[in-house]
Amino acid sequence: MELIVSKNFNKKDSYKLETYLAGGGYEAIKKCLDSMKPADVIEEVKKSGLRGRGGAGFPTGMKWSFVPKESSVPKYLAVNADEGEPGTFKDRLVLELDPHLLLEGIMIASYAVGIGTAYIYIRGEYKKAFDTVRNAIEECYQKGFLGENIFGKNYKLDIHVHAGAGAYICGEETGLIESLEGRRGQPRLKPPFPAISGLFMGPTVINNVETLAFVPSIINKGGEWFASIGTPKNSGTRLFGVSGSVEKPGVYELELGITARKLIYEICGGVKNGKKLKGFIPGGLSAPIMTAEELDVPLDFDSLAKAGSMAGSGGVIVIDESADIPKIAARTADFYAHESCGQCTQCREGTRWVSQLFNKIYQGRGQKKDIDLILDVCSNMMGQTICVLSDACAMPSIAFIKKFRHEFEALVK
Ligand SMILES: Cc1cc2nc3c(=O)[nH]c(=O)nc-3n(C[C@H](O)[C@H](O)[C@H](O)COP(=O)(O)O)c2cc1C
Ligand code: SF4
Repeated sequence: MELIVSKNFNKKDSYKLETYLAGGGYEAIKKCLDSMKPADVIEEVKKSGLRGRGGAGFPTGMKWSFVPKESSVPKYLAVNADEGEPGTFKDRLVLELDPHLLLEGIMIASYAVGIGTAYIYIRGEYKKAFDTVRNAIEECYQKGFLGENIFGKNYKLDIHVHAGAGAYICGEETGLIESLEGRRGQPRLKPPFPAISGLFMGPTVINNVETLAFVPSIINKGGEWFASIGTPKNSGTRLFGVSGSVEKPGVYELELGITARKLIYEICGGVKNGKKLKGFIPGGLSAPIMTAEELDVPLDFDSLAKAGSMAGSGGVIVIDESADIPKIAARTADFYAHESCGQCTQCREGTRWVSQLFNKIYQGRGQKKDIDLILDVCSNMMGQTICVLSDACAMPSIAFIKKFRHEFEALVK
């Protein structure tokens, strides 16, 4: 299988401009500027079927086409490099090992949508990634690849990097916008959607790092080529970040449609120390747990949604037979209770209740009715709040109980 996003990761000095150029880098943006109209670029990305790798799997070309062509105020691109979802650590590799691939993706997206300023919002803890990206931007300015008349053409683009300060909610796109504007990272009510009114009230595209890193190859090789990889509505490859109780954890670029069985047992060497699999979380902590009986579900957007979970950020967390699901549930709910921004009652109170109830059960202080009380609280936390952090706590909580109820019941006897 051909690597697309991680193709340069193992090269010596992969992060340097000269390495990127030697591998054919910045040819795609030159192709766009030389011979493609912005609408042609959007069409090619639509043809590729590329879906966002940040969590929701939204079609990228369609997202770009929602931004009005004419705007009386500046349009912006905000790159989501917050990577705060527990179990997710794949964007970090792109930022540290191939920052120019991301920058070229940003240039192409900006050209396609008519954007003159892009911001990369990087998770605050990613100091090395921040420095690497900043140096890469500097290299581009020195070469004339950024600023006025990039690549000698009549097109201007500036890229800025911004460090976050450790809040998961700043990865939610409108929380990110608020934070970039200098305010507390509290998500905004939608509509208006960012494509119409986002950063500094201008039409704004928000894309994940990995999503943009696919774009140069799509332009070089064509949307149809990309669409031929993976499965029909889940095209291309993705970076799977595999962690937990597994022999060979790490980031693997694989075709969409691969099953969890193949990923865990063939690629990652199986469950650690030959233990039995209890379950796996397929797309970052917000994704409902799957059991060992569900190993043959393909790890793509539609198959996982059909199975009641989600592909999310591609972070696969492997859980072995010795793990204690009530403990994992309590720890999971603690995270969301800590990260809730507090604007919505259902989320602020709900995440805290769920966390307290799970901890009560796990610590042996619970009663049988607490198990159903958690399900009741969760049912009031979904589909009613400003952003989906509330759902992201409720959905895995329900799955922990529904799929492993016997473990909770054993603790309340
Ligand atoms: C609480 C919360 C946290 C999120 N964190 C991230 C994140 O760290 N990185 C990311 O790319 N998307 C994150 N998202 C998803 C973004 O809101 C958004 O959908 C995504 O950046 C869009 O990019 P894409 O279309 O390229 O996937 C988060 C969403 C929520 C609700
Ligand atoms: S759902 Fe939670 S995190 Fe999202 S805006 Fe409401 S309170 Fe904040």
